[in-house]
Amino acid sequence: MIRIVSACAFASLLCLASVGPSVQAQTAPAQIFKERQEIMKQLWPGYYRDMSRATRGEITDLPPLAVKATQASEQLKKLSTLFPAGSGREAVPETRAKPEIWTQRADFNAAIDKLAAETVAFGEAAKAGNADAMKAAWPKVAEACGACHGGPSKSGGKFRFEE
Ligand code: HEC
Repeated sequence: MIRIVSACAFASLLCLASVGPSVQAQTAPAQIFKERQEIMKQLWPGYYRDMSRATRGEITDLPPLAVKATQASEQLKKLSTLFPAGSGREAVPETRAKPEIWTQRADFNAAIDKLAAETVAFGEAAKAGNADAMKAAWPKVAEACGACHGGPSKSGGKFRFEE
């Protein structure tokens, strides 16, 4: 009985080792690409647009923006896991992720962390209802997007292809 159980366990290990990764290599990068694009595309309409509107005085109920800031930083945490090695253009031709993401990984992670930290700082100002602090925090948030994006929304950047 024990022998049978361990033989099965061994077989499934083999299964994971041989079939698992090769199947993953064929399907996962395209899915991962879709997931990270989805999250990125939602950042502006889902979270940051209202934050920017608040800095222009178009939204005056500030505390709910702290919730958006927290949610955005959670999305960023998730995002940082969606750039595994092997999910660049070699596997997904339509990705705009540059190879520098994998050759300069520490810089890339630092850029995500920086955006998350600036977002949290913005959220704290919003939570306190401090419009001035919020306005002061906003350019740092925008700059942190620019660290990867280079500038206006269609521009490339250190970690993202122009087209
Ligand atoms: C750590 C680097 C980094 C930061 C910071 C960053 N992005 Fe991105 N972003 C990328 C990469 C890389 C892609 C391309 C992903 C892909 O195609 O696989 C991308 C894609 C996008 C896309 C999808 C469409 C496209 O052009 O590829 C949007 C929209 C976007 N980002 C918005 C933002 C906004 C808004 C911020 C700031 C709130 C931001 N990003 C911050 C790296 C970053």
